[in-house]
Amino acid sequence: MIQEIDKYLEEVKSFETKDLKELENFRIKFLGKKGILNQLFAEFKNVPNEEKKLFGQKINQLKQVATGKVQSIKENLENNLEEQGSQLDLSRPGYPVEIGSRHPISIVKNQIIEIFKNIGFNVSEGPEIEDDWHNFTALNLPEYHPARDMQDTFFLQQNPDWLLRTHTSSVQTRYMETHQPPIRTISPGRVYRNEDISARSHCIFHQVEGLYIDKGVSFADLKQTLLYFTKEMFGKSKIRLRPSYFPFTEPSAEVDIYWGLETETDKRITKGTGWLEIMGAGMVDPNVLQNMNIDPEEYTGFAFGMGIERIAMLLYQIQDIRMFYENDMRFLSQFKPII
Ligand code: PHE
Repeated sequence: MIQEIDKYLEEVKSFETKDLKELENFRIKFLGKKGILNQLFAEFKNVPNEEKKLFGQKINQLKQVATGKVQSIKENLENNLEEQGSQLDLSRPGYPVEIGSRHPISIVKNQIIEIFKNIGFNVSEGPEIEDDWHNFTALNLPEYHPARDMQDTFFLQQNPDWLLRTHTSSVQTRYMETHQPPIRTISPGRVYRNEDISARSHCIFHQVEGLYIDKGVSFADLKQTLLYFTKEMFGKSKIRLRPSYFPFTEPSAEVDIYWGLETETDKRITKGTGWLEIMGAGMVDPNVLQNMNIDPEEYTGFAFGMGIERIAMLLYQIQDIRMFYENDMRFLSQFKPII
């Protein structure tokens, strides 16, 4: 019996904790109503007389030590908490709030807008659900015109005259309806084409189209404007215009920039030629001006259009166009501004 109490005594003396909950469990175990001490006290009457004295001393000692232990640990822990509280520094700067990032498409779009704003272009916008007139017919693409197949179109089921615009040239026709020359406008926006989704193409993408109409606008003006743009945007000063076809421009051209062949990447993206196609352009077809009630005898103009994704992929070396629409934070957070 005495030995048992000595064992308890050892246990109590060596007990340590930093946790109030654990301390409380310890208290209940020894000093609680049904705790060890009360059990021992209850045992007292069964102890043989000659042992009663020692037994009594021992359990009193155990009680004292246990009570003292609980008291001192409790005080210690409470002091610690108070100290922590007094260490609270109210003048300390807060944790930095994480800054969001612009979508790469927006970054590139804003760059393009800025470059053209500097030479007097304004920004125009229009609806993404368009009618046939503004997207096709007014642009010299009457019904059954074979060139309509160049841009596979999503039509709205409710009304086949409505469609999702296939290019932002539709904004240009709206702009010409409501503005007289001189016109200098760029039209950024989302466009839709019924194309298979792959690493290279998507059914949704973004364009910036430009339109310049005034007296005496020539092909030379177009070329100089494009040259200025490619210098500002890519830091490249060599372009070439290859003859092409668009129903709304005559003559029409594909615009290539000379990217160079310095690195392996240059070779890969230019397919070993050094040249990269970046947009379509041309002189506005007189039929289009006529459709818009602008006298083609008095005015001429040029137009151009480019895909923002394509340019963003080039600038940021993005291999898969689908990345732009997946909202993957690991991708998007790479475009955080550097501050
Ligand atoms: N609208 C054409 C396209 O979406 C681009 C373009 C615009 C070409 C203006 C010539 C002139 O492909």
